[in-house]
Amino acid sequence: MPSPPVLISEADIQIRVDELAAQISLDYADKGDVVLIGVLKGSFIFLADLARKMTIPRTIEFIAISSYGKTSVSTGAVRLLMDVRSNIADRHVLVVEDIVDTGHTLKYLIGLLESRQPASIKTCALLHKAESAEVDVNIDYIGFGIDDEWVVGYGLDFAEHDRALPYIGTVLPADRAKK
Ligand code: PRP
Repeated sequence: MPSPPVLISEADIQIRVDELAAQISLDYADKGDVVLIGVLKGSFIFLADLARKMTIPRTIEFIAISSYGKTSVSTGAVRLLMDVRSNIADRHVLVVEDIVDTGHTLKYLIGLLESRQPASIKTCALLHKAESAEVDVNIDYIGFGIDDEWVVGYGLDFAEHDRALPYIGTVLPADRAKK
C-alpha cells in the first residue's frame, strides 16, 4: 500500500515542537518541576520530542485511556486503563495529547487529574480538530489546527497502522476500509 499523503511534514512538525517546547519552558520557568503526562498510545512520539526540547526540570508520566464506541460517532464514554505512577498533588501537570478530536478524552482526564489536587493543570495537543468538538475543553498549547480528516503518523494510528511514520499523513477515503 502506498504511503499516506503528507499533511504536515516532518520538518514542519519539528519546527512547531521546538516552538511549543520553548513556550512551555518559558511559561513554567519559575515553577520548579512540571509533570508531563502523555496519553497513550498516540502521544508517545510527541511527548518524547517535546520533553527533549524543553529546558526546565520535567518528570515523565503516562496514562492510558480507552474510549468506547469510537467508530464514526463517538459515544463519549471513556475508561481509565493505566494510571500514572506518581502522586501529582501540589505539582504542576501538563497533559500531552497527540490529538483532540471530540474532546471527551481530555475532558475526562482533566476531571480525573483535578480531583488529585495538582498545583496546576494545563493541556497540550499536537493536533486539534476544532470542527469535531463535542464538549468544551481548554487546550493551552496547540501544535496545529486541522480539518476533520483521518490522520496517521508521528504516534497516531489507523487500526494500529502507521504510528511510526515520521510525518502526519492523511488516510485516503479509498484506504479507510482496507486495514
Ligand atoms: C486518540 C487520541 C486521544 C483521543 C482523542 O486516542 O490519542 O487520546 O483519541 O479523541 P477525542 O477527543 O475524540 O476523545 P485513541 O483512542 O485513538 O487511542 P490511541 O492513542 O491508543 O491510538
